[in-house]
Order: sequence, then C-alpha cells, then structure tokens
Amino acid sequence: MLIVVKKNYDEMTKEAARVISEIVREKPSCTLGLATGSTPLGVYKELIRMYKEEGLDFSKVTTFNLDEYIGLAPSHQQSYHYFMHDNLFKHINLDERFIHIPSSMVDVSDINRIHKYCDWYEEQTRKAGGMDLQLLGIGVNGHIGFNEPGSSLGARTRIKTLTQKTREDNARFFNNDIDQVPKYAITMGVGTILESRIVLLLASGKQKAEAIKMTAEGPITAMVPASIVQMHRKAILIVDEEAGSLLDMQYEQFVTDLE
Ligand code: GLP
Repeated sequence: MLIVVKKNYDEMTKEAARVISEIVREKPSCTLGLATGSTPLGVYKELIRMYKEEGLDFSKVTTFNLDEYIGLAPSHQQSYHYFMHDNLFKHINLDERFIHIPSSMVDVSDINRIHKYCDWYEEQTRKAGGMDLQLLGIGVNGHIGFNEPGSSLGARTRIKTLTQKTREDNARFFNNDIDQVPKYAITMGVGTILESRIVLLLASGKQKAEAIKMTAEGPITAMVPASIVQMHRKAILIVDEEAGSLLDMQYEQFVTDLE
C-alpha cells in the first residue's frame, strides 16, 4: 500500500487526478469506478480542466459508480445520479452508454428483485473487463461506498441499511434533517471493490484522521471496512496533512510512478 500525504485538499485532489489521467492516457478504453461525496469533487474539477485544456479524452472510458441511495429520483439534487452528472459527466466527453450508476428506484419490498438487479450490475462490471481503478472516499466510521462497519469483507453489490452515524453525517446534504436522508442504499461490496486493479482512496480534514489511522495502521477488521485495502496489491491512499495527522509512520510526499 502506498500512502501519500499531501499538504492540503487541493494538492491531494490534483495528485489523484494525475493518477487517473495517467490511466486514461495509457488505456483510453479503461473502466473507472467512481465515488461521490465532497472528497472527490476537486478530482472531478481537475479532470474537467484536463479535458478542456489538455484534451484528456474520455470518449472510450466506461464508468461504474460505487453506490446510490434508494428512494431518491435521479433528478433529486442529492441523488448520486444528479451529483455525477452535475459535477463530472456533463462537463466531459464520456459516452452516456458507458456510464453506470446503481438504480435508486428499486422497490425495497421486493428483495429478490433487488438481488437480481445487484447481480446484473456486477455482471456489467465483469463484461466491461473489470475496474482498472476504483476511486474511494471514506466515511468517518471507516465505511467505503456504503459498506458500513460490520459489512462482510467479501461482500458483493447489494442493498445496505445505512447506520445512524452515516445518516447523521450525510444530513448536512439534506437541510440538516436526518429524516430526509434515505435509509437504504445499493453499494458495491468490499469484495467487488477489491477486484479493481488499483484502489485509490482519498481523505481530507481532521474529521477523517481517526478513520485513516485505523485504515492504514490498525488491524484489518470488518468494523473498519476501509482497512481491507491493506490486503490489496495496488492500493494508494492520498490524504491531506490533517487526515494523515494521527499516522505514526512518515509517508512519501509524492507518487513518482504507478509501477
Ligand atoms: C458517503 C458515500 C461514500 C463517501 C462518504 C464520505 O457515505 N457513500 O462513498 O466516501 O460519504 O463522504 P465525504 O467525502 O463527503 O466525506
């Protein structure tokens, strides 16, 4: 696992965008796993800049999003469909046909249908040749995607009930009203995420310092789902100084090359 500590949020996201752009340049038909949340926003801004100013070409790239709330229409401003279109897709030349986001409109009372849908979503990732890179943020409680503490480390794409902590954390996007935060989500599983050829996890700010400490230097445990990245052969953690402030080890300040 490569751990890179950058001075601030801006430098962290620029480095992450550089890693992603390198893959897109080397393999124009690559498959990228994308994430939502405030953390990757700067990465998407930088990728948009690279598209506009440097001609970074996304026309052959396939994307799969990690997760989506259940019950929010794709047009809802807090749905991950809306987020991705608003913050990335509509600004670059991705082909709509190659964009995949879990459906938000599944019927929670029909669990068999949801299982079938989730299997189908996984099947699409396999048909696309598997993920070349999976971008990840991290929850304050160590969750990745919506794999909450206690999630099986081998889990596949499935429906998850969100924890009270995650709903409280995300209430800031729902007028600070927890009742508006959906209770369920579809998320790629930890097992699905681990199959990506590269896992790129980002974190910034003091509120993530404990989660990063447990992820990078704690025991591997289902209670901190992100800690499983320690087992991945090509995991890169890029954090800013605040998020890395509890780490004991001294880590590199820059990535030279992926290989
Ligand atoms: C949500 C998302 C995660 C994300 C996390 C942290 O729960 N499902 O994918 O990593 O929030 O979000 P933020 O980057 O806003 O702190």
